[in-house]
Amino acid sequence: MKLSDVGLDVLKTPRLVKVIAFAFLSISAIFLFNHFSDSFSYPSLPFPISSSSNAAETILTDITTTSAAVSPSPPPRPRLKISPPPLPPTVVRTGIIDENGAMSDSFEIGGFDPDSVDELKSTTGNSAAGENKPSGEDDDSKTPIEKFNLCDKRKTDHIPCLDNDEAIKRLNNTDRGENYERHCPKQTLNCLIPPPDGYKKPIPWPQSRDKVWFNNVPHTRLVEDKGGQNWIRVEKDKFVFPGGGTQFIHGADQYLDQISQMIPGITFGERTRVALDIGCGVASFGAFLMQRNTTTLSVAPKDVHENQIQFALERGVPAMVAVFATRRLLYPSQAFEMVHCSRCRINWTRDDGILLLEVNRMLRAGGYFVWAAQPVYKHEDNLQEQWKEMVDLTSQICWELIKKEGYIAVWRKPLNNSCYNRRGAGAKPPLCRPDDDPDDVWYVEMKPCITRLPENGYGANVSTWPARLHNPPERLQSIQMDAYISRKEIMKAESRFWFETVESYVRVFRWKEFKLRNVLDMKAGFGGFAAALTDLGLDCWVMNVVPVSGFNTLPVIYDRGLVGAMHDWCEPFDTYPRTYDLIHAAFLFSVEKKRCNITNIMLEMDRMLRPGGHVYIRDSLSLMDKLQQVAKAIGWTSGVHDTGEGPHASVRILICDKRM
Ligand SMILES: *[C@@H]1O[C@H](CO)[C@@H](O)[C@H](O)[C@H]1NC(C)=O
Ligand SMILES: *[C@@H]1O[C@H](CO)[C@@H](O)[C@H](O)[C@H]1NC(C)=O
Ligand SMILES: *[C@@H]1O[C@H](CO)[C@@H](O)[C@H](O)[C@H]1NC(C)=O
Ligand SMILES: *[C@@H]1O[C@H](CO)[C@@H](O)[C@H](O)[C@H]1NC(C)=O
Ligand SMILES: *[C@@H]1O[C@H](CO)[C@@H](O)[C@H](O)[C@H]1NC(C)=O
Ligand SMILES: *[C@@H]1O[C@H](CO)[C@@H](O)[C@H](O)[C@H]1NC(C)=O
Repeated sequence: MKLSDVGLDVLKTPRLVKVIAFAFLSISAIFLFNHFSDSFSYPSLPFPISSSSNAAETILTDITTTSAAVSPSPPPRPRLKISPPPLPPTVVRTGIIDENGAMSDSFEIGGFDPDSVDELKSTTGNSAAGENKPSGEDDDSKTPIEKFNLCDKRKTDHIPCLDNDEAIKRLNNTDRGENYERHCPKQTLNCLIPPPDGYKKPIPWPQSRDKVWFNNVPHTRLVEDKGGQNWIRVEKDKFVFPGGGTQFIHGADQYLDQISQMIPGITFGERTRVALDIGCGVASFGAFLMQRNTTTLSVAPKDVHENQIQFALERGVPAMVAVFATRRLLYPSQAFEMVHCSRCRINWTRDDGILLLEVNRMLRAGGYFVWAAQPVYKHEDNLQEQWKEMVDLTSQICWELIKKEGYIAVWRKPLNNSCYNRRGAGAKPPLCRPDDDPDDVWYVEMKPCITRLPENGYGANVSTWPARLHNPPERLQSIQMDAYISRKEIMKAESRFWFETVESYVRVFRWKEFKLRNVLDMKAGFGGFAAALTDLGLDCWVMNVVPVSGFNTLPVIYDRGLVGAMHDWCEPFDTYPRTYDLIHAAFLFSVEKKRCNITNIMLEMDRMLRPGGHVYIRDSLSLMDKLQQVAKAIGWTSGVHDTGEGPHASVRILICDKRM
C-alpha cells in the first residue's frame, strides 16, 4: 500500500479535484492574460502593503487553529501512516479568478516606481538599515513570539536527525550502519545554531572550488588523514584543495578524461547529465564534472571526523548527507545516468547485494556504474575473491561489464526487462513484486530484489541536455495526480510562471549581486523554479525538495536534468547548518501548517541558511503576519511584498535576510 493509495479517497472528493483544476486553470489564465498585456511582464513587483485589522483577525484565528491541529514533531513512521495531504484551498488564489472561477474585476496591474524598489531593497537587502516593517505597525494585541536564543556552541555542526545520540545508543545493532541513518528526536531544537568562531562570508564559486575559509569548516582530521594523498591542505586562514583536491592520482580532470575514453557513449553534458558520487571525499569529482555540464550529487554519511559533505557544500558542490545502510536513499528510481564509487568503502556484495540493488533502483535504464577500487586491479587473494563476488553479482542482475582498465571497472544497466525475463525461475536475486513502487522512498526499507523497468520504456529515452530541461518527459504521465488539462500544459505553464517570476526577482531584487551558489527549493513541483535559474544563467545549483505531503514529482525533476530529494518538512533535513545561500518556499506553509508546527519549519530554515543568506516565501496573505513574527523572533530582517497580481490578490511574498 502506498501513500497514493491512501490518498486516493481524498483525491476523488470533488472538492480537491475542483481545487486542483482551479489551481492550474488559474496558472494558465495568468499566461493567457500575460499574452495580451505588456505591462504584465512584471509579475512580482514589490509594493509595501498596508496592514489592515482584517489581516490581524485572520492571523489570530490562524494561530489558534494551528495550535489545535499541531502535534509536536511526529516521530519517524512508515509512509503509509502519513495522513493524506490536506486540502490546500489557500494555495490556489491568484487574484485573477475569484472563487467561482470568474475573472475578477478587482484585478490590478501595479505601476513600477524604481525609487520605491530601491527603498525596499534597502530594507530587505544587505545594507545595515534597521528593522523596517513595510506594514508599518506592530500589533501588540497579539502575543509576540519571544526572540530565540542561540544554542550551545557545541551544536555548531548539529544535524538533528543524525546527531541523536540517545536514539543511537538504544540501537540493538549497528552492523549495517544503522547509526548513520535518520533518528529524529521527539523534541526539536528551540534555539538558533551559532556559527563557529570567526565564520566569514563563504568564498564565492568558482574560487571556492579550490579554497574555502578554514574558520567556516574548522576540522583538520581530513588534512591529517589525507595530507599524504594530496586532497586538502591548510594554508594560513584557508583550506586549499591542491590539483583540484582529489583522490585521483593525476587529478580529477584527467580521471574524467579517462572515463570518457573508456565509455564513448557516456558523453558528459549530453547523455549523462545527472550523476551520483558515493563516499565522495571532498567532492572534487562533482566539482570538476560541473564544468562538463553534468550535475553530480555527492553523498556520504555524517562522519563526525571527516565532514566530507560539509566541505563539499562549503565549496559550492551539490551534496547531501546520505548512507547506504538499511533504508532507501531519498531519490527516485532511474534518477542517475551514472553512479560513481571510488574507494567508497561500501561492501556491495553483503546481504545478497542489497546495496548494489539499491544503486540499480536509482540508476537510469542504460546508465553506468563506475567502480574504482582495489579489487579491480590488485592481485592479492582476498581482493581477487572480492572481484569475483562482484562479477557474479553484477551478472546476476544483468549488468554488462563494458570495460575494465587500470583501477576502474564500468558496468551498464540494461535498457529493458528482456534480460531479467530470460533468467530462469528461482534465479537470485528475485525481481521485485509488481506492486513495489520504486519511487516510494520515505522511511522505506531497502529490498533485496531487482527493480523492474517500466514495460512502456518510460525513463529509458530522455532527451539529451539541455533540451531535456524543457521537454516534458514521459514519466510525467505516471505521476499519481488528477488533472483535467494535459500534464504537459501544466508543466509548461509552471515553467513559464517561474521564469517570469524569477526574471523579475533577478531584476528587481538584484539577484545577480547575491552570489548565489547553493539554493534550496522547499517545494519544487516540476522544478520550474530551478529551471528558471538555469535559463537565466545564474551560476548556482538547486536542491529540489518534493514534500511527502504532495504529489511525487521527483522522477520528472530528474528527467529534466535537475537534482532533488524527498522530504517531510515536519522533520529536519539531512544537511549541515549553513548550507544554503537562498531558500525558496512557495505555497509550502499553507499546506504544512495543517500537519506540523510552522515555527519549527522556520527554525530549521534558519539552521540551513548561511549568514548573509536570503529567504523568499510566497504564500497566502493570511499567513504573512505569523510568518513575519517568527522571522523577527529568529532575528531575520523581513518585508512583505505584493505579487504582480496587485494588492488585491491573496498571495504575498515575504522576503527575509539573515544578516552576518
Ligand atoms: C511550535 O514550536 C515552537 C518552538 O518550538 C513552540 O514554542 C510553540 O509552542 C509550538 N507551537 C505549537 C502550536 O505547538
Ligand atoms: C531492541 O531489541 C528489543 C528486544 O528485542 C526490542 O524490544 C527493541 O524494540 C529493539 N530496539 C530497537 C531500536 O530496535
Ligand atoms: C555547457 O552548456 C552551455 C549551455 O547549454 C554551453 O554553452 C557550453 O558550451 C557547455 N559546456 C560544455 C563544456 O559542454
Ligand atoms: C562483503 O560481504 C560478503 C558477504 O557478507 C563477505 O563475504 C565479504 O568478505 C565482505 N567483503 C569485505 C571486503 O568485507
Ligand atoms: C532491450 O535492451 C537491449 C539492450 O539492453 C537491446 O539490445 C534490445 O534490443 C532491447 N529489446 C527491446 C525489445 O527493446
Ligand atoms: C527516443 O526519443 C527520440 C526523440 O525524443 C525518438 O525519436 C525515438 O524514437 C525514441 N526511441 C525510443 C526507443 O522510444
